[in-house]
Amino acid sequence: MTPTTQDWQPLIEAALQARQRAYAPYSHYTVGAALLTEDGTIVTGANVENAVYPLGICAERVAVVRAVHAGHTRFKALVVATANGGTPCGACRQTLREFAADLPILVVDGQGRVVLETDLAELLPHAFAPDDLPRS
Ligand code: THU
Repeated sequence: MTPTTQDWQPLIEAALQARQRAYAPYSHYTVGAALLTEDGTIVTGANVENAVYPLGICAERVAVVRAVHAGHTRFKALVVATANGGTPCGACRQTLREFAADLPILVVDGQGRVVLETDLAELLPHAFAPDDLPRS
């Protein structure tokens, strides 16, 4: 079900706060993410870069990994906060697809203004999904 404005607001605030804890000394492009789990928990993430550049990890994947490790694998919504409303990268889209097919996603700017309201099916059409693998 599409989240209401009331559902989005705490997630927007969580994503903005999470963005402040990004570690991005190389790109200076800070990203915050807030995932709403099925039981109503909000799990956040921020990008964490590394002097070995390819080892950096995006905010969205930090949020997913933290959530899964805390026992959450079903998600209801995601908010991503960046300075300019940049959308989740391809790797993050695929990581999210492992756990949700049509996750509602809101992209906000640094002031929490909505830049894009979309969902994962729109961001990652014809995705390779867990069901595509044969079961043993
Ligand atoms: N970044 C994210 O955290 N999420 C995205 O979806 C796009 C990019 C981060 C990775 C890197 O630390 C910085 O933004 C610049 O690419």
